[in-house]
Amino acid sequence: MTNPRANGLRSVADQSEDERGGPGSILSRQSRDHADLDALMRAYDAEPDADARGRVVAELAERALRHAFAEETVLFPAYRQHLPEQGEELTAHIEGDHQQVNDLLEELQDADPRSPDYDALVRRAFEVIRHDAHDEEDDLLPRLQQVASAEELRAIGAAWEVQRRTAPTRPHPRVPRRPPGNALAAVPLAVTDRVQDAAEHLAGARGARRAAAAGALAAGAVLAVLAARALRRR
Ligand SMILES: [Fe+2]
Ligand SMILES: [Fe+2]
Repeated sequence: MTNPRANGLRSVADQSEDERGGPGSILSRQSRDHADLDALMRAYDAEPDADARGRVVAELAERALRHAFAEETVLFPAYRQHLPEQGEELTAHIEGDHQQVNDLLEELQDADPRSPDYDALVRRAFEVIRHDAHDEEDDLLPRLQQVASAEELRAIGAAWEVQRRTAPTRPHPRVPRRPPGNALAAVPLAVTDRVQDAAEHLAGARGARRAAAAGALAAGAVLAVLAARALRRR
């Protein structure tokens, strides 16, 4: 893999928002979300209580997975379209990292934050997430910037954001990392993930007030599933 600092390109991390194409550009949106992920990783480091650490990891996992899913369905296909010669190698490498993150977060989902192995698993996930952000900010995004207009970068940014908001919230290591497989799976997985999320809230994991909101979400999600089934039967 290219040494990011030796590729002759300016990292997104060293550019102003204007240089990145404005706040809506995919470069700015990625940069902000990477910073939020980094803040959650540092919050984990600063938290001494095991249960609270588990909650930080759950929040980080959801955010990182939605971020990555939207990359796999929107950003990477756009990158391969703009750079058909060199797009394959770099996106295949990053998709491999995303696969590792999905595998590790699936393990962590069922692990006890008080268990001796938990922290080691978290550290491995953090390492891959940080490496992934560097590959994108130092390599993939500056290369895309060279061949796409600011308007195109903003259009990719808007599409990535829409996909991020509606993406599945849980790890799915056995779903393909590329379209059309991941795109086809997105809607049903997003619904089933939210039903599971809501069920966990209802079980009292996150307090009574959030459970009430989750109940409404669960009812909505179940209705959506029933409506989808009814439509399929027609
Ligand atoms: Fe990524
Ligand atoms: Fe990213």
